[in-house]
Amino acid sequence: MNTAIILGAGQGTRMNSNIAKVLHKVGNKSLLQHVIDSSKPIVDSVNVIVGHNSNSVKNETIGQEINWVQQKEQLGTGHAVQQAIPYIDEGSLCLILYGDVPLIKTQTLQKLASRAEPSGFSLLSVMMENPYGYGRIIRDSKNSILSIVEQKDASKDELQIREINTGIMAIKGTLLIKYLKELEPNNSQGELYLTDIVEKAVKDNVNIASFICESPTEVMGINDKTQLSEAERVYQQDKANNLMLEGLTIMDPKRFDCRGNLNFGNDCVIDVNVVFEGDNSLGNNVLISPNCIIKDSKIGDNSNILPNSIIDNAVIGSNTSIGPFARIRPETKIGNHSKIGNFVEVKKSSIQNNSKVSHLSYIGDSKIGTDVNVGAGVITCNYDGVNKFQTEIKDGAFIGSNSQLVAPVVIGKNATIGAGSTITQNTPDDKLTLSRNKQSTISKWKRPLKK
Ligand code: UD1
Ligand code: CA
Repeated sequence: MNTAIILGAGQGTRMNSNIAKVLHKVGNKSLLQHVIDSSKPIVDSVNVIVGHNSNSVKNETIGQEINWVQQKEQLGTGHAVQQAIPYIDEGSLCLILYGDVPLIKTQTLQKLASRAEPSGFSLLSVMMENPYGYGRIIRDSKNSILSIVEQKDASKDELQIREINTGIMAIKGTLLIKYLKELEPNNSQGELYLTDIVEKAVKDNVNIASFICESPTEVMGINDKTQLSEAERVYQQDKANNLMLEGLTIMDPKRFDCRGNLNFGNDCVIDVNVVFEGDNSLGNNVLISPNCIIKDSKIGDNSNILPNSIIDNAVIGSNTSIGPFARIRPETKIGNHSKIGNFVEVKKSSIQNNSKVSHLSYIGDSKIGTDVNVGAGVITCNYDGVNKFQTEIKDGAFIGSNSQLVAPVVIGKNATIGAGSTITQNTPDDKLTLSRNKQSTISKWKRPLKK
């Protein structure tokens, strides 16, 4: 049985924010949620130590089985874990984690936990080019771990050590409880240091195992907004690498952001500065051109999303082209072999196969059939200032440019609407309908001359 104990009571003063530190986001997911998600596959229970802003933290993770442990005053990492003693099962292996160390991987925790098996205690360390600020791992001549010395308590020689304590450890419940109870604030900060349990275990002849983490970024802590942005880039690069290994073509992983899940078929290409949010799925051979934002949408085979388009909560069929500069808003469904062109906004509408809305239109609350052509500048007038109304355009209709369709209104099958019409009543199938003032020319008219 494994238990996660996640420390997250620190104020996070350096974030300069009203938001609790562990609720800041990487890849649009809170730092704390990252840690919970990485530990979940290998633990049976999750304890989170909270302090300031505990209510907002609890609210963010509603619906998840988490044991919240309040640490009223922040008297050190040892004091934080002490608060969880009532919930620690003596026979369990406890994984100590940090709500502000979000990039830790399940695999690494798995290895750390298995290293802890023989003696009941293992530490995750990492080699740092610049170890400033971290606790140093002190080893004897046989390379066995002796203790951890904090930056502020370290001697000159100890400060030279580059192997540092990530803080993450795996320890048997019995040992953890025993040593936690023995902690004393004998240090320069007057805190209860969790790291002091190492020395106590060594005195008790517990052979502490260690696992040196391969990458410093995986165990990086977030203390300020610069580190938050660094973690975001590490996370995105990692995500991009995984997607590329699965076969996605990403033109420049440094200009790629996926804040959620992306499924894709064969031979999809993502050009630069594309942002994916939420759950998205692409068919085969989909092209997403530069500067697009795709959120919670599904795009079918062979479709092209042209530059500077936004697709939000929509389903796009196959062999369809969207953009450039198109905005597809929620609850829109666009069929196969269709086209939404530049400066077209579509909201809560369905457009079926082989239909085109090519230029400068607003289509809202509409149902458009197959083989429909909507000319440039057509507007569905769906709102009277109070209520929204539906427009229906039946199969094969042709809507002349710069027409307004005042909803509720139905355009008949194979109907043609003359350019520049304002349509306020249903129009019959197969006929030309237009509303237009008669054109006239004033033959005697002369341009005024400059006085
Ligand atoms: C700690 C370690 C240090 C390690 C470093 C890695 C100790 C004494 N030192 O130092 O060896 O190299 O982490 O980043 O453990 N927290 C609480 N309650 C408290 C104090 C802290 O929940 O009373 C939480 C913080 O929110 C934070 C984490 O514990 O997530 C670490 O605390 P912090 O004060 O940053 O420890 P460091 O001094 O950096
Ligand atoms: Ca820290």
